[in-house]
This record gives sequence, structure tokens and C-alpha cells, in this order.
Amino acid sequence: MDSKDISALLGKALAVRKNSYSPYSRYPVGAALLAEDGTIYTGCNMENVSYPASLCAERNALGSAIADGKRHFRAIAIVGSLGDYTMPCGICRQVLAEFHVPLIICGKSEDDYRLFRLEELFPAAFTAEELKKE
Ligand code: THU
Repeated sequence: MDSKDISALLGKALAVRKNSYSPYSRYPVGAALLAEDGTIYTGCNMENVSYPASLCAERNALGSAIADGKRHFRAIAIVGSLGDYTMPCGICRQVLAEFHVPLIICGKSEDDYRLFRLEELFPAAFTAEELKKE
């Protein structure tokens, strides 16, 4: 991915962040997921008064892509709040690992971001291979 593609993905994440439902944390997050075929799926965080029922932006984006029949992805861009880079939470890292999302882009704006490889953020993952071991 070149910097133009990365900025475009971050732009989608910034746009969907406006729809975040986060009355409890007041910490809106937007995510944009690039599928292998070039389609972009977006998601924002969606909180609940029963706090554990809340969902992160990343998993909402992945859910939309899966519901649309996609299984292969190139990258996900994440934009949080408070002017810092927002890192995906542990549960989202597990879900990103399930679908081998190789590149994670944590952005503050369209041109201020950090790039991480999945293995870097989630080393020694529990994967489907573990279930095959005796
Ligand atoms: N959140 C996300 O949506 N993605 C992240 O990567 C980090 C955290 C949400 C969960 C909750 O709604 C709010 O941010 C504060 O934790």
C-alpha cells in the first residue's frame, strides 16, 4: 500500500468515527478495513449501558465485511480520540488474527499514522493450528 491508499483508508475511518455511539467513555473510534478485492468496510464503536455488551470499531468493521462474504483483507485503519494513536484492544487483536489482517494502521489524521504488522502487535497468537495438536 502506498501513502495515498493509507490516507484514503484513514479518511474513511475518520468519517465513520462521527457515527460512534460512545456516551459512556466519550471516546469515539472509527475503523476502515480494506478487503483483498479493494472494497472498504467501516465500523465505529457501539457502547452499551451494560458495559461488556459494547463493541469496538474494528470488530464492527470486520462483521460488516464477513456478512458481505469477504474473508481476505489487506489492512485496517483505526482512528481514536484524544489526539493520540489508538491501538487495537486485546480482543480485537485476537479477531484481527483470526482473519490474518496483515497491516494495522493507527492514525491521528490522514497523514499522521503508525504502521504495525499483525505479528508485531499479536505475537505467539492462539490460532486454529492449536486445535489440531494432540
Ligand atoms: N475502542 C475501540 O473501538 N477500538 C479500540 O481499538 C480501542 C477501544 C472503544 C471501546 C470503547 O467504546 C471505547 O473505545 C473506550 O474504550
